[in-house]
Amino acid sequence: MSMSDKDEDAESLLSGIEHYHEKVHRGTFSVSKLLLLCLSYLLTAGGGAWLGSNWLFSPASICAELTARYSPVIGDLGLSYKTVQYNGSFFKLNAFRQDAGPEVDAAWSSLGVDYRAIAVPSDQASRSGFAQDQVKISEKYGGGFPANVEGLHHLHCLNLLRKSLYYNFDYYHAQGEGAFKNNDVILKNHITHCLDIIRQQLMCIVDVGMLGQVWWDPQAPKSFVDFNTKHMCRSFEEIRQWAEERQLPEHMPKDFLAPPKEGDLIYDAVP
Ligand SMILES: *[C@@H]1O[C@H](CO)[C@@H](O)[C@H](O)[C@H]1NC(C)=O
Repeated sequence: MSMSDKDEDAESLLSGIEHYHEKVHRGTFSVSKLLLLCLSYLLTAGGGAWLGSNWLFSPASICAELTARYSPVIGDLGLSYKTVQYNGSFFKLNAFRQDAGPEVDAAWSSLGVDYRAIAVPSDQASRSGFAQDQVKISEKYGGGFPANVEGLHHLHCLNLLRKSLYYNFDYYHAQGEGAFKNNDVILKNHITHCLDIIRQQLMCIVDVGMLGQVWWDPQAPKSFVDFNTKHMCRSFEEIRQWAEERQLPEHMPKDFLAPPKEGDLIYDAVP
């Protein structure tokens, strides 16, 4: 639901209440009608405050407006936040830190790292940062612009770095799936592309939280950095689900993409 849809909803809601007021005014005065008037006034004021704090002027929606570029995720879900405790354990391995194998792959896969593209509707394309001559889906197949949620690409990249770690590399290289289907020159470019995208992302959203220290070893206390910090995090699960549900079909017909038109920008090389 877009902001303007919400405005319209809010307006029609309020206009309904105005009409109610008029009816109350037209009747002859009585105590019960005065009570009714007060009650409806309270409901209007209370409803307005609720709308204001939860919907139109919520800190989260103002925050989204100021700190995130528009995307259909924001249009559909808004941005909601919750407190998350990081797992910064040094020696206790969670599901994402296991040795190469089907279990650890399943853990990473459950994050949506390999989802197919979604379609950004044409009327949200320019707000989402797309030029009109970018790649489009044929009208025959619903139109729109094929696109991926950027945060899921970052996780895809992190997963590729994991697979490329010196102690995992041989396993995934022998398997020859996904990025490992390519020759080693392309694979190396893919890996450094991923490393550098994650660098830029981490710099973009530089975390200004503080890592304190804790004592360990009661016999001979030593200090150690406490990596198990709390964070205000966007609701990842909601966004993952949004992207999962909207994936384009697995097998694309040959004419799925609309070919470029005369005058559309076509780069000489991969940008
Ligand atoms: C981190 O994960 C490991 C493995 O699941 C668990 O044993 C440990 O208690 C977790 N630590 C925190 C602080 O959540």
